[in-house]
Amino acid sequence: MRHLIVPSKKTAEWLDKLRSSGWLMEGTGVIKIDDDFRAIALSQSAPASSDDYEGLEIIDMEGKLPGPKSWQNRLSPNTYEKIGKFLPNSYEVQGDVLIVKLEPEVLDFADEIGNAFLEQLNPVRVVCRDDGVQGEFRVRKLTPIAFRDHNNSTDTVIREHGIGYHTNPAKAYFSARLGTERLESAHHCLRLRSDLQRNLVIYDPYAGVGPNLGLPISDGIVDHIIAGDLNPAAAELLEKNLQVLKSKFSNFTYKAICADALEWPNDPGYCNKADVLFANIPHSTLNHLPKLLPLLKRKSLTLVRGWLILEREQIQESKEKIESMFNDFGALIHEIDIEEAKGFSTTKCFTRLTIYSTIE
Ligand SMILES: C[S@@+](CC[C@H](N)C(=O)[O-])C[C@H]1O[C@@H](n2cnc3c(N)ncnc32)[C@H](O)[C@@H]1O
Repeated sequence: MRHLIVPSKKTAEWLDKLRSSGWLMEGTGVIKIDDDFRAIALSQSAPASSDDYEGLEIIDMEGKLPGPKSWQNRLSPNTYEKIGKFLPNSYEVQGDVLIVKLEPEVLDFADEIGNAFLEQLNPVRVVCRDDGVQGEFRVRKLTPIAFRDHNNSTDTVIREHGIGYHTNPAKAYFSARLGTERLESAHHCLRLRSDLQRNLVIYDPYAGVGPNLGLPISDGIVDHIIAGDLNPAAAELLEKNLQVLKSKFSNFTYKAICADALEWPNDPGYCNKADVLFANIPHSTLNHLPKLLPLLKRKSLTLVRGWLILEREQIQESKEKIESMFNDFGALIHEIDIEEAKGFSTTKCFTRLTIYSTIE
């Protein structure tokens, strides 16, 4: 089968060009020649001269036929028969790290399962067994079960909304499922920026590796950021991510700290400064929030975005509690929204809180 040899960085571009000209052999896969080049199969009607492909080389080689549709189909029939009903139905990918929970019944087959994932999912480099969250920072216990290129490190980069965040799912918390929340937070920051007519001071005391921060920074609406996490590994990654963002978008300053958020208000230098306060410690937000209010800038419109786990039945009651908490602190609430963002258990839900207020 004739194949066009293209620079690997231009694979997607050539796939588009060939497909739109009707020159792509549909149903075949792209073949990796080496790190720099890929081979794409040409259809019968594709021209024969390199001149039609900006001088790229055409060679004859065996085509790559489509593989199995699911990683499970890559297990041997024998294995599938023994453990099929215990196989995981879901998994999570963070950057090039795949995380999967395994039932005890399949543990002896972890190697084969890991390799099936690697064969099926090209971008995945390391497959890890997930033994659940542990420790005070609720970080997952991960054990690599299969990997490529002799590299079983769980250091990785997650791309979200076009921004790369260095992370390590074995050391720091990152929920890829909150990407939409972060997009919405960025829209609120834009709104506040437009109301205040100046760039914002943003505080993120439970920042993890910093995924709340990339969008407002890339929107160019940040003056200063103070972000922190109590987990030293997360704080180190946060510093790295802010450094990378600073090298791309230089018009803001930042401070990344490893600290207990509840200590921040004890430093007068941190108080009465934040235009935006993120509070993402879902099991404790209700308890922590009153202690963090001194961080908000006084006599100026401020935004609080928080996430909480609440009993579904207690959403209204919690809203009233938060209103009293703000009123007691002398804040005039202009707008308050508290709504279910996603389910958490049968009775509890993950709730999003948005408050615009002015503290007298
Ligand atoms: C739910 S995660 C949120 C992380 C990040 N904002 C995100 O959206 O991915 C909560 C974070 O708070 C950190 N944390 C827990 N207790 C803390 C405290 N008292 N002060 C500061 N950070 C804390 C944890 O280490 C964790 O990274």
